[in-house]
Parts: sequence; C-alpha cells; structure tokens
Amino acid sequence: MPVYQTSTFIQEAPGVNKGYDYARSNNPTRKVLEDVVAQLESGHSAFAFSTGLAAIDAVLKLLSVGDEIVAVDDIYGGAYRLFTHVYEKLGIKIKYVDTTAVENVANAISSKTKVIWIESPTNPTLKVSDIKKISIIARSVKALLVVDNTFASPIAQQPLALGADIVIHSGTKYIGGHSDLVAGMVVTKTAELSEKIKFIQNASGAVLGPWDCFLTIRGIETLDIRFKKQCENAEKVAAFLLETDAVENVFYPGLRTHKNHEIAKQQQNGLFGGIVSFTLKEDTVAAANEFVTRTRYFKLAESLGGVKSLLCHPPQMTHASVPRERRIEAGIQDSLIRLSCGIENAEDLIDDLKEAFRTCAAAKKSTLV
Ligand SMILES: Cc1ncc(COP(=O)(O)O)c(C=O)c1O
Repeated sequence: MPVYQTSTFIQEAPGVNKGYDYARSNNPTRKVLEDVVAQLESGHSAFAFSTGLAAIDAVLKLLSVGDEIVAVDDIYGGAYRLFTHVYEKLGIKIKYVDTTAVENVANAISSKTKVIWIESPTNPTLKVSDIKKISIIARSVKALLVVDNTFASPIAQQPLALGADIVIHSGTKYIGGHSDLVAGMVVTKTAELSEKIKFIQNASGAVLGPWDCFLTIRGIETLDIRFKKQCENAEKVAAFLLETDAVENVFYPGLRTHKNHEIAKQQQNGLFGGIVSFTLKEDTVAAANEFVTRTRYFKLAESLGGVKSLLCHPPQMTHASVPRERRIEAGIQDSLIRLSCGIENAEDLIDDLKEAFRTCAAAKKSTLV
C-alpha cells in the first residue's frame, strides 16, 4: 500500500473530491489499515488512532456526565490513569471489579452503567473473563461491552462475534508487531457506533499518520505466523517457570492450573498468547529488580507483542500509576514480572531465564557470605 504522505487532497471544485479532502478526516493509507482491521475482527468498521490510549479515549468520549463504567480491576495502568484521573474528574463514575466472576459484573451494574470495560486476557496477570456472559449482562442495562483485545489479538479471539459492541487494540503491540510504532484501533460492531466513533476521531483528531499506517499494514501481513510462534514460545517458557524453584506463581492462561483456563480455551481458538507473568518466592521489588536486570535476550523495556522478547516489572513500570493497595488487590504483587515472548528460538529464551535465575541465586549467596 503506498504511503499517502499528504495533509490535503486537490479538489475538482469546492466539495467535489475523490473521497478525500483533508488527512485528519481521512487518508487512503489509513483507510486500507482500517478496512483490514475491521475484517480481522469481523467488525462493521475500524478506526486508527495515534496510540492505544487515544483509541480508548475516543470510546470514553461516547459518555456523558453521570454515566457509569464497570471496569475490570486488573486494567492496564494507562487506562486506569485515564479513567480515574481524567474521566472521573469530568463526572464519569468507574467501578472496578474482578470480571472473571460474572456475578461481580451483575452486582456492579445499575441503570447508569453505560459501558462495561474488560481486557481479556488482562495486563499483566492474564485474567480471562467470559465475554459471552458479560455481553448478556451489558445488554440487560443497554450498556456497551468494550473489550480490549490487545493481548489475545484478532488471531486468538474475536470479541464482536462473542457479543461485544466495541473492540480496542493497542496497535503498538501484536498488530504492529515490531516495536517500531505506537498506534491504536477501535473496531465497531454496528453502523450507528461507527458513525459516532468516526465523528469523534475527526472532531478530536488523534489519528494515526500515514507512515505508521503503512508500517502497521506491513506488520499485519505476518500477524498470524508471529502470534502463533509467540504462543508456542510462551507455552514452553511457562512450563519451564513452573519447574523453577525461585518461582512462586506462574500466570499463563494456557496452563491447566490457570484459574480461567477453561474459558480461555473456549473463547481463544486454542491460542493463549505470548505473555507469561510470574512472581518470585522472595516477593519483593528488590528481588524482581535483581532478576529483570540479568537477562540477555529478554530486554528490559515497556511494551509487548513484538518479534523480540521483552520483560518488565509492572509495579515500577507499566502499572506504576496504580496505587500499591489497588495493585495488590488486583493480584499484581511486588515481585510480579511480565515476559513478552518474541519469535526467537524457545530454547535460547529458556536458557536466558535459567542463567538469570542462576546468577541471581549466586549473587544472593555471595551477599550472605
Ligand atoms: C492492554 C493494553 N491496552 C492499551 C494499551 C495502551 O496502548 P498504547 O501504549 O499504544 O497507548 C496498552 C499499553 O501497554 C495495553 O497493554
């Protein structure tokens, strides 16, 4: 797809154009990306934004003062910051609940609930919520069900087919896939929602530029093959962590021991994603710091979903904006480490982790002597 690196389009006469007049409103490269993502999610339309948070922000702009959101408690830290520190101030009320238990959602809704917001799997503890059942609850109060599908990607999961109204993606992650851009997508189920999001996209203006649209389209061409390899690597890494002495808990929806394994199996096409989180027996920030600075292939960085493996310590990085008390309540313990498996050789990744555990243990021993 060519990169239409232009802000404006020549018109034959005022208002007479070839479907494009100004690049905030539309751009041919962006249009192709939007159409491809709409197809991947089996949606009516998709809209490309400058970041995942800009996509989330556009959806929140559907709300009015006094409306309520019921949101998953283990929500991405940036979404928590936007909900709580921007939208709550503007008169939107947010109730955070553990959406893996459907009854918590049923108990939290009211006639004021206009949006139920879930991530499935969540960032970073990989909780999986039953999209179909929650969509029925949403319908009972005429609320929209929004699913952040970033972690599953459209390859593993299609929330609109399961009853959701809107899907959002941080396109920065699996969809882009190469850690070389930031992007966001909103996918809508109906023409009516498409019209509203299109209006907000143009009115607020946080669109994705043509070059990044081009890069994202290029990324999508390998999404299927990348994602499947990342899932394969993550399964092997999770199995290794389960056998590791220094590890307390492993969070991976593909593990039979994961508390939402059954629902993940049903709604995720047998693919459980490339992210694995774990806690250490020594559940401290200091112990996590020791570990995350000792790997070679897993680079310490924010973000996930790219072809190269990354690791991070959510309490100090992606989820630093969530108060400790709320973070612990949501299951993000002090030592929680999140791995994003890339497409490298799985044995190399496991050797890398083994070596980091070995050197951590050796360093600890030497300080005790
Ligand atoms: C699940 C999830 N949703 C949304 C976002 C926000 O996306 P972006 O960083 O592209 O703004 C992130 C970022 O990490 C995320 O992990």
